[in-house]
Amino acid sequence: MKCNVSFEYELFGNVQELEGSLQKLLTAAKEAVGLSYAPYSKFHVGAALLLSNGEIVKGSNQENASSPAGICAERVALSASSSVFPQEKIIAIAITYHNESAEEEADNIVSPCGICRQSLLEATDRQQSPIRVLLASPSGKLILLENAAHLLPLAFSASDL
Ligand code: THU
Repeated sequence: MKCNVSFEYELFGNVQELEGSLQKLLTAAKEAVGLSYAPYSKFHVGAALLLSNGEIVKGSNQENASSPAGICAERVALSASSSVFPQEKIIAIAITYHNESAEEEADNIVSPCGICRQSLLEATDRQQSPIRVLLASPSGKLILLENAAHLLPLAFSASDL
């Protein structure tokens, strides 16, 4: 028996096409890019979470001379929200970046790395409701997914323990 995993996502060409709360969230993610500490990769990532109480929690990548000690923007934001607002559900995460090494603002959309996908899945399972994911290129191209769990099919999770 052959099986297939697929999911839908929306593509937007312009931030004005997004609902207001997501526009605001993307603005926060762009602000977070400016808070990134990435002297090694020169790749600055910003993430922002929209919580059920309306709060926005930002995170940015924080690198280290000992590279495994560095942490991605998404997990900084997830850890911050879980520490400060543990009872609130995460409605959405917006992620964007700035590549210092690039000549012009890229059209490429960056999607969370494997470890961040696992962390987003844990947060989803914990709160028992989906987290929307908004990905934005520096040039303004946008992708919206309704459920972060779609990024990690056939995942290992708490239900396996
Ligand atoms: N990075 C993130 O912050 N999020 C991702 O989803 C991918 C990668 C960071 C880690 C590192 O500081 C830099 O981007 C280059 O890999």
